[in-house]
Amino acid sequence: MLFETYSLGNVNLRNRIVMGPMTRCRAAHPGDVPTALMAEHYAQRASAGLIVTEGAPVSPQGRGYLWTPGIYTPEQVQGWKLVTEAVHGKGGRVFVQIWHVGRVSHVSLQENGQAPVSASDVTANSQSFAYDENGQPGNVPCSPPQALTAAGIRAVVDDFRRATVNALAAGFDGVEVHGANGYLLDQFLNPGVNARRDDYGGSIPNRARLLLEVVDAAIAAAGAQRVGVRLSPHGGFNDMPEDPDTDAMVCYLAEELERRGVAYIHFMDQVSFGFKPIGEDLLREVKKRYRGTVIVCGGMSKEQGERYLAEGLADLIGFGQLFISNPDLPERLRRDAELAQPDQATFYGGGAAGYTDYPFLAD
Ligand code: PHB
Repeated sequence: MLFETYSLGNVNLRNRIVMGPMTRCRAAHPGDVPTALMAEHYAQRASAGLIVTEGAPVSPQGRGYLWTPGIYTPEQVQGWKLVTEAVHGKGGRVFVQIWHVGRVSHVSLQENGQAPVSASDVTANSQSFAYDENGQPGNVPCSPPQALTAAGIRAVVDDFRRATVNALAAGFDGVEVHGANGYLLDQFLNPGVNARRDDYGGSIPNRARLLLEVVDAAIAAAGAQRVGVRLSPHGGFNDMPEDPDTDAMVCYLAEELERRGVAYIHFMDQVSFGFKPIGEDLLREVKKRYRGTVIVCGGMSKEQGERYLAEGLADLIGFGQLFISNPDLPERLRRDAELAQPDQATFYGGGAAGYTDYPFLAD
């Protein structure tokens, strides 16, 4: 089934294979502008049914890593046009992941050296890629965050709205709201990080409120069929504590996203990062509540992907790291050809090496 076509809303996909979003830190700087090299990288991988780009910060405040391509300036929109034109030119489809890191950031990335923002003032025991005390790029501990004010929350929602408008102007087929992996929206979902006493903390609907307001803003700009949402239930990455009510939260979100008719829910299984798996039972519960498209990504093999499709646990299957080292991954999977393994040393930063120089299968 992986090699069958699929209609994702108004967008026709040539197979059920998704290239998952991966941070690669190769934007031009200053300015965090997408480049022609990035366009080449994505175009090489356009045989995926759908590409979801690396996370694109929606504002300077939303940045947690140097050289991640933003989607808030006119120059960045022009840069992303190179990417969408190159992918569409190869018959591919591409959504941009819109991203706010929240507390997974560092004062050296923030305007006027301010504290990063989060749901509360709980510091992440995790790393940002920023400037160290000597002003050199490097991994640094995340800075203590400040809790967003009510006005700050409105500004974040507006940043996501503007990012969606920019995404359409750049020619993307849609946007993926990054609600996963311990970044801002996930920080609000998790009661171990969100200690708010206002309408955005406490109950499940309150903790889900910011994510759903962001989704509504994206829908208002693009229409529900062009909006997807990424979630990582049970994921511990970026110092997210285990939440005993995770499954109830995910079921609530599935119902709310069903009401809104979003294009897809994209589950990142952090089992691939060494954390707990999502679990097939939770995917089944989601499927009872949400009739749209479900993508599952994270440590997938061809066999597991085929089984998830056959059993109705997922409609599309995401592959991440294997797409780094196999630009023609769908064809390799189809032929059961050998898969190249990616070189971790070239994941972040740098140029063409480990980015656009992985070979295609010899014809
Ligand atoms: C990373 O840079 O390691 C990273 C970024 C965004 C994610 C996950 C991991 O959602």
